[in-house]
Amino acid sequence: MARLCFPVLVQLVLLIAGVAGGPWQEFLRPQSDVDNDVVGTRWAVLIAGSKGFENYRHQADVCHAYQILKKGGLKDENIVVFMYDDIANNSANPRPGVIINHPNGSDVYAGVPKDYTGNDVNVNNFLAVLLGDKSALTGGSGKVVDSSQDDHIFVYYTDHGGPGVLGESLFASDLVATLEKKHAAGTYRSLVFYVESCESGSMFEGLLPANISIYATTASNATEDSWATYCPGGGQGEAPPPEFMTCLGDLYSVSWMEDSDAHNLRNESFELQYDNTLDLFMGSSDPANHSATVGSTDNLLMQLSSAVHVHQRDADLLYFWHKVRISVI
Ligand SMILES: *[C@@H]1O[C@H](CO)[C@@H](O)[C@H](O)[C@H]1NC(C)=O
Ligand SMILES: *[C@@H]1O[C@H](CO)[C@@H](O)[C@H](O)[C@H]1NC(C)=O
Ligand SMILES: *[C@@H]1O[C@H](CO)[C@@H](O)[C@H](O)[C@H]1NC(C)=O
Ligand SMILES: *[C@@H]1O[C@H](CO)[C@@H](O)[C@H](O)[C@H]1NC(C)=O
Ligand SMILES: *[C@@H]1O[C@H](CO)[C@@H](O)[C@H](O)[C@H]1NC(C)=O
Ligand SMILES: *[C@@H]1O[C@H](CO)[C@@H](O)[C@H](O)[C@H]1NC(C)=O
Repeated sequence: MARLCFPVLVQLVLLIAGVAGGPWQEFLRPQSDVDNDVVGTRWAVLIAGSKGFENYRHQADVCHAYQILKKGGLKDENIVVFMYDDIANNSANPRPGVIINHPNGSDVYAGVPKDYTGNDVNVNNFLAVLLGDKSALTGGSGKVVDSSQDDHIFVYYTDHGGPGVLGESLFASDLVATLEKKHAAGTYRSLVFYVESCESGSMFEGLLPANISIYATTASNATEDSWATYCPGGGQGEAPPPEFMTCLGDLYSVSWMEDSDAHNLRNESFELQYDNTLDLFMGSSDPANHSATVGSTDNLLMQLSSAVHVHQRDADLLYFWHKVRISVI
C-alpha cells in the first residue's frame, strides 16, 4: 500500500502557451526590482481542495506557497487563499496551531489569510474569484482577482483528482472555459497555473488553447498518479516527526517550493528554476542525468530520494493505517 517511489518517476506535463520570458520570476521579485520591466499587479490564488487530517499535506502545501509569495513581495490584498482550515486546530494535530510542510520545517500557518474556509472552499467560489466576479460568490472574505490587462496571476491548486477533474467537481472543461473567459475579458497579461493532483495533466492536455497567455504545469500527466511525500515510514530524517501520522507534503509541490526557498528569487528566472529542479523530478527518467546538476538542488534531490513517497490516493489510507496502528499499541 505505502509504495516506495522515487522522484524520477514523476513526470511533468508542460504546456507552454505563448508567454515569453519567465512569468514565475515576475511573481516573486519585489515590485521595486521589477518596475522597469513589469507593469501591473501580481495576484495569486491558492487552493487546497481537500479537508481532513489525512489530507494535512494539501493545506500545508498551500500555507507554504503563501509564505513564499509573501516573501516575494505580494500583498495580502492580492493573495486569495482557499483552505478548509481544519488542520491547525485539529484534535489529531500534535502541534496545535501549527502546520509544517517539511520534517524539520517551521510553522507555515501563521499569517495565512482565511479568505475562503470550510464549505466556502468550493468550485463556484473558485471560478468566481478567478473571474473577479463578486456577485457570484457565496460566503468568504469577498476577495477576488480584480485584475487588469497588465497584471500577472499565479494559481496553485493542490487536491485529489482524476481524469478531467480536480477534487470532486472542478471539471477540466469548466476550468478551461473560465480561463478563456478571463482572457477574453482582457484582465491579465500572463497567468501561471500549477496543479498538484493525480492525473492533473488531464485538466489541460489538448484543452488549453495555446494563444491565451497561460503557462500551466502539472504534477502528473493525464494518466498517472502524483505523489505525497514526507510520509510516516520514511527513512531517517525524511519521515515526519514520529508524532505525525500523516504525510506533510506533496512531492511536486515541495520540489518547486523548496527550490524557491533555497534560491534568491530576485535573481532566478522560472526557466532556471525549471532547469534546476523541476526538470530533475519531472523532465527525465534517467537517473544518470541527475548527477549533472549542481548546488542545493542536488541536496534536494537526494533528500527527496530517500523520503517515502506515497500515491496521493494511498496517502489517506496510510494515515488511517498509522492511526489504527498507534491506537492498537
Ligand atoms: C484555533 O484555535 C485558536 C486558539 O484557540 C483560535 O484563536 C483560532 O481561531 C482557532 N482557529 C480555527 C480555524 O478554529
Ligand atoms: C486562438 O486560436 C484559435 C485557433 O487559431 C482561434 O480560433 C481563436 O480565436 C484564438 N483565440 C484568441 C483569443 O486569440
Ligand atoms: C504518463 O505517465 C505514465 C507513467 O509514468 C507513462 O507510462 C505514460 O507513457 C505517460 N503518458 C504520456 C502521454 O506521456
Ligand atoms: C532534519 O534534521 C535532522 C537533524 O538535523 C537531519 O538529520 C535530517 O536530515 C533533516 N531532515 C531533512 C529532510 O532535512
Ligand atoms: C541577486 O541580486 C542582488 C541584487 O538584486 C545582488 O546583490 C546579488 O548579488 C544577486 N545574487 C546572485 C546570486 O546573483
Ligand atoms: C540523459 O543523458 C544521456 C547521456 O548522458 C543523454 O543521451 C540523454 O539525452 C539525456 N536525457 C535527457 C532526458 O536529458
